[in-house]
Amino acid sequence: MTLPTDIRICDWTALPEGLSAHEVETPDGPESLILLREDQSVRAYLNVCPHAGRRLDWSPGRFMLEDGLLICAAHGACFELKEGRCVSGPCRGEHLRSVAVERADEAVWLSTPG
Ligand code: FES
Repeated sequence: MTLPTDIRICDWTALPEGLSAHEVETPDGPESLILLREDQSVRAYLNVCPHAGRRLDWSPGRFMLEDGLLICAAHGACFELKEGRCVSGPCRGEHLRSVAVERADEAVWLSTPG
């Protein structure tokens, strides 16, 4: 699956510090993204766990965090946020799928990877 690059995800001023979930409409249907804002930077992952394909949040936009790790609400896999790598749980060693995003015109957009 390739995500298009001209989709506005949200206003920069509406993006909270830390983790948030955002639903975007793509030509292939809706996708849920996890955005991680750290001061003036932002990174994103698909909100899909590599273990069984479930969302990671326990309620839309509500994530479990412990000691800086994101914990999947379904079966407890723990992911470090810098690279999205699972460090414990049923999919240890796998990664969240990174999504390229950029800040432009005071908004966050899907961008072309690379
Ligand atoms: S779906 Fe995330 S740990 Fe099973």
